[in-house]
Amino acid sequence: MMVANWKMNKTRDEALAFIYAINESLPSCDDVNTVICAPSILLRDLVKRQGDNLKIGAQNMYFEEFGAFTGEISPVMLQTTGVEYVIVGHSERRNLFGETDDMINRKVLSALKHNLKPILCVGESLDQRELGITSSVIRKQLEANLKDVSKDDILNVVIAYEPIWAIGTGKTASASDAETECKNIREAIKELYNAAIADEIKILYGGSMKPSNAKELVSMPNIDGGLVGGASLQPDSFLELVKACL
Ligand code: 13P
Repeated sequence: MMVANWKMNKTRDEALAFIYAINESLPSCDDVNTVICAPSILLRDLVKRQGDNLKIGAQNMYFEEFGAFTGEISPVMLQTTGVEYVIVGHSERRNLFGETDDMINRKVLSALKHNLKPILCVGESLDQRELGITSSVIRKQLEANLKDVSKDDILNVVIAYEPIWAIGTGKTASASDAETECKNIREAIKELYNAAIADEIKILYGGSMKPSNAKELVSMPNIDGGLVGGASLQPDSFLELVKACL
């Protein structure tokens, strides 16, 4: 699975030009599940280009369905645009916009209730890594963010391991470090759910993934793909990332 997180980038014209540039060359979703998570204002236009080789996702949503929440977008609104995925709990949302584990849990539950697949981001800060508490930080996030998510629903959740110190910094976790944490995540899912679910759930790596390191990362047994910011913004680079999954 290869997921672009465009963050707050691209006008409508730029986004459509990007889709035209890659569409012909994308493999079928049976081979690589390719997803573009775009700014909300572009979703309606991009969903029209959704097909058997490309799915569209949102980057955030609020957990309530309607109401006095100025500036927010609800799961009902997302559902009516036809998007399939929504990123939840990105570290930029946690750190810049004050999202707590409890809010993220409510978002995960609300997305699932509205047939949206949450891409749940977890990961440690540099301080936490240096203190040697990476695995316990991630375990706590998983327990809090997946609270009350049932066995029936959990396979509609994609988990993305994104070490905060690797996001947008050019510093990638080494393939073996990324593998270690993704393996720990799978182990946690096994304990929280069961072994069959742990085998099947998709776990992505994100943090300065680019064409030159993607193949090594996605070749790791517990890394099922990538969640990519900067290197997903140019069509050629994104296509290379998708093809690395083949
Ligand atoms: P970069 O690929 O730019 O490091 O961003 C990663 C990310 O935050 C994806 O969600």
